[in-house]
Amino acid sequence: MHSHLIPGIDDGAKTIEDSIALIKELHALGYKKFITTPHIMSDFYRNTPETILGGLEQVREAIKAENIPVTIDAAAEYYLDDGFIHKLEEEKLLTIGENNHLLFEISYVNAPDNLMEVIFRMQVLGYKPIMAHPERYPFWGNNFDFYGSLRDQGVLLQLNVNSLSGYYGPDAKRTAEKLIEKEWVDMIGTDTHATKHIQALHRTVKEKSFRKVIEFNLLNKHL
Ligand SMILES: [Fe+2]
Repeated sequence: MHSHLIPGIDDGAKTIEDSIALIKELHALGYKKFITTPHIMSDFYRNTPETILGGLEQVREAIKAENIPVTIDAAAEYYLDDGFIHKLEEEKLLTIGENNHLLFEISYVNAPDNLMEVIFRMQVLGYKPIMAHPERYPFWGNNFDFYGSLRDQGVLLQLNVNSLSGYYGPDAKRTAEKLIEKEWVDMIGTDTHATKHIQALHRTVKEKSFRKVIEFNLLNKHL
């Protein structure tokens, strides 16, 4: 439920051949259903429901032509910037599953000052916010009280499983393991952009923490 498999619209798959190669590799690892989530960012990836859903159709046709037994849907990974705040007020956003789950990410440099206000606004408008890869924001590092308060606020936390094998560095690995220890992981995702992420997944699946988290009652199992 977090990947970048639609070709040519963000920093994930570049061509339809890339998309199909990634989907085949993920299928070989056991994945059967994807909800892919292209970036929507005002500065870099100005995607819209049209660019994403148009690309999704192209991927679906290619999957069918190649006879790969998987299904694919699309939502988006929204970057919290001024453009997002406008979209939130003005459009129907792309959500995951049938319960209006909205995947968002923030800057890796610093947390937006208005983070909690924007989260509250999402909720007022009927969305259920999911924070992508909370373990990857270095400015929170060991601030588990903050992660706790996010969850108390109703924000779901989506871990990138490759954090568990150290793909994003030792700090993200430590934070990810601690979030699992606290059972504060609501969803998991591969965040696959390219083959390198699938190579990492082969290491990740051997981690004890990975085997533990997949036993949780993850939202992934209900989509
Ligand atoms: Fe992502």
